[in-house]
Amino acid sequence: MNLLEYFDLPRLREALESVADIRHPRVLFVCLGNICRSPAAEGMMLSVLQEKHAHGWTVDSAGTGNYHIGDLPDPRMRAHARRRGLELTHRCRQVREADFDRFDLIIGMDDSNIARLRALAPTPEDELKVLPMALLLSDKRHFDHIPDPYYEGAEGFETVLDLLDEGTRNLYDTMSAFGS
Ligand code: 4NP
Repeated sequence: MNLLEYFDLPRLREALESVADIRHPRVLFVCLGNICRSPAAEGMMLSVLQEKHAHGWTVDSAGTGNYHIGDLPDPRMRAHARRRGLELTHRCRQVREADFDRFDLIIGMDDSNIARLRALAPTPEDELKVLPMALLLSDKRHFDHIPDPYYEGAEGFETVLDLLDEGTRNLYDTMSAFGS
């Protein structure tokens, strides 16, 4: 759904207005470890773009932490994603200040990620690029963040994938409507 059609979301509007080229958005998803939530968000976004035959987007993911640099996503997340047709092949990397030059939107999964990203932003304009993933969910979802599944069971991974599926679709729909 085009979120801006139904909700008053000034932060989202402001962020979309600052996207350099709305037809070629550059989006970075960020979580703590970059082995569960953000590589899954990257995979979901790429899958939505493929389904819509949309070209010209740049999509990547990174972590605020440095525990798993170079690793593939967590085997549990890869298994749950594979059941939905997603192959997650991202290699873990840490977010860095230069990412604020390379991306238009930097989407954090929870409040801790958001706080770390805001602190890393080199300028106030760059801070506007930082958005919570939960902002992209419709209000029927009662989540104000994407819960960390690392210490959870199977249900935690499924919940994350459900939330990311909706959030990435809403981002695509909202961005497309905004650019037309
Ligand atoms: P993620 O989950 O932030 O969704 O990738 C985590 C992965 C690893 C750790 C924490 C969260 N860890 O502490 O190693």
